[in-house]
Amino acid sequence: MINLTHTITETQTAIQKQISEGKTIGFVPTMGALHEGHLTLIRRAALENDFVVVSIFVNPIQFNNPEDLAKYPRNLNADIQQLEGTGCNLVFAPTADEMYPEPDLTEFDFGQLDKVMEGKFRPGHFNGVAIAVKRLFEIVTPTKAYFGEKDFQQLAIINKMVSLLQIPVEIVPCPIVRETDGLAMSSRNARLTPEQRAEAPVIFKALSSVKENYSWFIPDGVKQLVTGEIQENHYFRVEYVSIVDTETLLPFEDWQDVEHAVVCVAAFIGKVRLIDNIVLY
Ligand code: PAJ
Repeated sequence: MINLTHTITETQTAIQKQISEGKTIGFVPTMGALHEGHLTLIRRAALENDFVVVSIFVNPIQFNNPEDLAKYPRNLNADIQQLEGTGCNLVFAPTADEMYPEPDLTEFDFGQLDKVMEGKFRPGHFNGVAIAVKRLFEIVTPTKAYFGEKDFQQLAIINKMVSLLQIPVEIVPCPIVRETDGLAMSSRNARLTPEQRAEAPVIFKALSSVKENYSWFIPDGVKQLVTGEIQENHYFRVEYVSIVDTETLLPFEDWQDVEHAVVCVAAFIGKVRLIDNIVLY
């Protein structure tokens, strides 16, 4: 049986009871509209912890585009049904007033981490993510918290926040879960028309092909290749392709300059903005 809570008090009571019995707490924060990507994180949390908490909260302060917030799919009952059998024990689904009785005006200093890529095109987004996740960590006090590499930059920001604030939690990065044709699973995929959906795997195809042959080119050349391959498809408008150091998220000139590199993409297909990435080495 999955327990559903809406208030901080009842959530903390339920979790503190588990902790007092010596149980470890696994936590997966989400904005709902759950799909196999989320469920994979939750199943892993259940394997690695005694008690699993999933939060479902469409966090208004991380949306820089009001239309995106308004259109974000919300269906708590369907989400809870999906959670049956995953090992989730408790769903915390607060209202915005419960999460933010007063506006939280914290401004994090993430250095360059939130200035590039998503941070550049979605100003304030990561500050809003960090405020929500910090609050959720305070409420849930997880032993381990699970985040998808689909949101590669978000993972870097969360790691940075945890180290800045010295929050006693282990952050567990989880691989990207994809549809069989390669499209990274996302709640936004449901907004694609059948025609757009058929073209959407182009991003992953472009990323997979450069994973094979990137070393024949300089990083900037790979960037041009990926951009060209996606943009060739008329359904797409590329917002950015960035090839960056997985640690600093900064671009570099030569492959030998960094230990690990990732290619990150954001592209519009119609009005739907998709992101994806692939670690090259
Ligand atoms: P949301 O987009 O619902 O994603 C919740 C978690 O699921 C994130 O860690 C995300 O990276 C992961 N996820 C989504 N799609 C995935 C996929 N295809 N493969 C692997 N993991 C995937 O990310 C957020 O919510 C919010 O910003 C949140 C962290 C909850 C703060 O509000």
